[in-house]
Amino acid sequence: MATHKLLLLPGDGIGPEVMGQVEQIVSWFGKQGLASFEIEKGLVGGAAYDAHKQAISEGDMKLAEAADAVLFGAVGGPKWADVPYQHRPEAGLLRLRKDLGLFANLRPAICYPALASASSLKPEVVEGLDILIVRELTGGVYFGEPKEIVTLEDGQKRGVDTQLYTTGEIERICRVAFELARTRRNKVSSAEKHNVMKTGVLWKQTVTALHAAEYKDVELEHVLADNCAMQLVRWPKQYDVIVCDNLFGDILSDVAAMLTGSLGMLPSASLGAEDPATGKRKALYEPVHGSAPDIAGKGLANPIAMIGSFAMALRYSFNAGEAADRLEGAIADVLGSGTRTKDIAAPGANAVSTSEMGQAIIGALEARG
Ligand code: IPM
Ligand code: MG
Repeated sequence: MATHKLLLLPGDGIGPEVMGQVEQIVSWFGKQGLASFEIEKGLVGGAAYDAHKQAISEGDMKLAEAADAVLFGAVGGPKWADVPYQHRPEAGLLRLRKDLGLFANLRPAICYPALASASSLKPEVVEGLDILIVRELTGGVYFGEPKEIVTLEDGQKRGVDTQLYTTGEIERICRVAFELARTRRNKVSSAEKHNVMKTGVLWKQTVTALHAAEYKDVELEHVLADNCAMQLVRWPKQYDVIVCDNLFGDILSDVAAMLTGSLGMLPSASLGAEDPATGKRKALYEPVHGSAPDIAGKGLANPIAMIGSFAMALRYSFNAGEAADRLEGAIADVLGSGTRTKDIAAPGANAVSTSEMGQAIIGALEARG
């Protein structure tokens, strides 16, 4: 049995609590002999700043480079509101994405049947929802230069961010979207704003050309990103795979997350290019939710997005699709039995703690035999 090297970066806020539940699940899979993991731990975000005055240390970057997969919790919080910009907690996450070349961010939004009523939308709008947002993750306005605040001659200040995309960057993310669409309902919706942005014009041209050259069997539609946000709330089931740039993907995936009932439900995978020599890709798995400092340390956090992120690691990094199905099935069983953390419980209904949810999922894994 192959041993997989996992680096755990719990981070800040609720990160360590939800990661604690994943650790139990990783060790459960290890004990069952279903997979074997070698685990290392590191610091990221505010926790790393407190220890090293950096949002991630060089040593932990090396561990991340060497790992088969990184599991990432969440970063940030009011405690670090005043640290220098280049050392803010989010800089650790952005450096991991950039330095590991994790250009493809997969954010599935699946509405578990038992949770249709936890969404703020009508159950018939979200019941059975299964869409995938493919977000470009290492380019665009997140990383474009110049990125600065300068003082003008008249004393005013001017903030600048730069949105840049090359055809190569657009092609490689759209290729991921088309390939994944072929394994699903075979439709890609490409979201940009070609009506106001040059990068949007280039995006639309590039995806159209790639489609014509290599993916004619997949349905392609173009949608303006603002309209896409509206359509996601109006009738999300019209979508299968949505592909978009870094910033639009950030926003659209928060909308998609909420369709499923709670931000606490949405996992994600960030993948690099396949190494032609080994067939492996660098990968980082993280929940879409943030560090939620307001509920940190209280046992209130929902660990499902973090546990679902480990299921994605099983599927995309460890070629263990059956184990991933089993873990996702166990999550569905637990939700089906009515077990809820506070974020997905009906108002006034009983809610379980973070660790009780983790234990319930292990119980369901065992029950599945
Ligand atoms: C996300 C987060 C990050 C982002 C933050 C924490 C930098 O919102 O992963 O969606 O904006 O990409
Ligand atoms: Mg976000």
